[in-house]
Amino acid sequence: MNIFITGASRGIGFELSKMFCDQGHNVIAIARTKTRLDELENYGNMSSGFGKIRGVHCDLSGELSSLNEALEKTDEINVLINNAGALVNKPFSKISSSELEKVYQVNLFTPFRLIQKLLPFLAKDAHIINIGSVGGVNGTQKFPGLSAYSSSKGALSILTECLQAEYADFNYAFNCLALGAVQTEMLEEAFPGYEADVSPQEMAKYIYNFAVNSGPIVRGKTIVLSRSNP
Ligand SMILES: NC(=O)c1ccc[n+]([C@@H]2O[C@H](COP(=O)([O-])OP(=O)(O)OC[C@H]3O[C@@H](n4cnc5c(N)ncnc54)[C@H](OP(=O)(O)O)[C@@H]3O)[C@@H](O)[C@H]2O)c1
Repeated sequence: MNIFITGASRGIGFELSKMFCDQGHNVIAIARTKTRLDELENYGNMSSGFGKIRGVHCDLSGELSSLNEALEKTDEINVLINNAGALVNKPFSKISSSELEKVYQVNLFTPFRLIQKLLPFLAKDAHIINIGSVGGVNGTQKFPGLSAYSSSKGALSILTECLQAEYADFNYAFNCLALGAVQTEMLEEAFPGYEADVSPQEMAKYIYNFAVNSGPIVRGKTIVLSRSNP
């Protein structure tokens, strides 16, 4: 299968890219940090499976035209994982317009525009997974400093439901996975010093299985994947 993963240069996206590759899939890995994308490409070249990884350097807070070349070489996309995320951890009254825009750009506007851009390439039964956050789910515990981040993830969850309704006559599956704490650099920014009991590898394994197996059955849902609080 052909898999598009954003935010592939570290954390969960990095592990996911390797996992799909190990299972013989072709991965388009998107991020800004070229050295990490090169590392992924090398991993793909050394892999004993038949999967390959192609790194695409793209700043998802800007134009998506750097994806055009990869798209020209792709016949169809089976799985899209909108995993890239941006966080600002600041008191509500101190968040600047540019910080707010950046968070919403990466967490909401880009998944919106990326899905629009990839629609013509989606396989009949494509699975689109938006990576949300448990803080972006109604009624869960909220934390000071995360108003921009958590509200953008809440909107991403609703976008997921809207798209499932809008494409009801198609065979696509749109789902949102609302993650709890996973030990990555982002977690350290959000909750300095906190140690999560879920590793990026563990979470990637769950997301991989969900992406590959759940599309025909689970549709238009936000699923909370949280072992702890946060
Ligand atoms: N870790 C947690 O506890 C946790 C909890 C709930 C939800 N999540 C969600 O899970 C997803 C993955 O999180 P993570 O913890 O693995 O995060 P991470 O380690 O901070 O990685 C974030 C990824 O997003 C990419 N990214 C950020 N801004 C970008 C931009 N403008 N253009 C392109 N790529 C960009 C980064 O790549 P470059 O810097 O190379 O561009 C990086 O690969 C995120 O959506 C996050 O919100 C995480």
